[in-house]
Amino acid sequence: MQIAPISGALGAEIAGVDVASLSNEAAASIRNAFLAHKVIFFRDQSLTPVAQKRFASLFGEPEIYPFIKGFDEAPEVIEILKTEADVKNFGGSWHSDTSYMPEPALGTVLYALETPDAGGDTMFANTSAAYEALSPGMKRMLDGLIAVNSSENGYAGGRARNMAKLDGMAGTYNQAATTFESEHPVVRTHPDTGLKSLYINRSHTARFKDMTAEESKPLIDYLTGHMIRPEFTCRFRWQPGSIAVWDNRATLHFAINDYPGKRRRMHRVVLKGDRPR
Ligand code: SIN
Repeated sequence: MQIAPISGALGAEIAGVDVASLSNEAAASIRNAFLAHKVIFFRDQSLTPVAQKRFASLFGEPEIYPFIKGFDEAPEVIEILKTEADVKNFGGSWHSDTSYMPEPALGTVLYALETPDAGGDTMFANTSAAYEALSPGMKRMLDGLIAVNSSENGYAGGRARNMAKLDGMAGTYNQAATTFESEHPVVRTHPDTGLKSLYINRSHTARFKDMTAEESKPLIDYLTGHMIRPEFTCRFRWQPGSIAVWDNRATLHFAINDYPGKRRRMHRVVLKGDRPR
């Protein structure tokens, strides 16, 4: 197995393995690489939804994503589809998956089935590097600050109405899904690595606790802009058969919507997390 970093900030590509049949030793190296590099990538893999769920179990417990109906044989696996007719895409803003839930997703496993010839890359940002780069004064100010994250944030007119604009996925939206709102520390400590990281994002963070949205906005804007500075990021170019596994506790990601008239189809699993501390 070869593990090669793809940027100075985060991300490593792992070659020489078939993720559907891993030895215990290979599985342990992959888990270590996941924690060390925060997002890991594989090429030329072939996974059914059931096999993807099994591979995802290496990193945590697959869980049902509340907003999109999954496959009958593996309900934790959902399809993310942008068709030739779609204008909007899914995940097209910087975020950490399900940060509005009381126990947000620990990680995510995304597998590409159809990709445009060019475009449709995903960007990732290292939120721990972003925290470390802050001044001591800013770190002191953020200590104890709580963010209020909402699943409806940024969806003018409601999440359901916006999802209906994604033609390819409209039929899979769970109309019965509730709205989630959770309070989480702005600086969280990773349970496995002990590293501190910034835990807010432009998609879901509505305001700080005990502050109005208007009062919160300048600091949210500053921090979310700081977190995605180029030196904290990497960018992955997909091909059919590629996989990305990212740690939502230490990264943000952004699905770039730059392939009008082209089709992109992915399968995704999120993993049960714990309460950020
Ligand atoms: C997501 O935000 O989970 C989807 C990312 C992508 O499709 O690249």
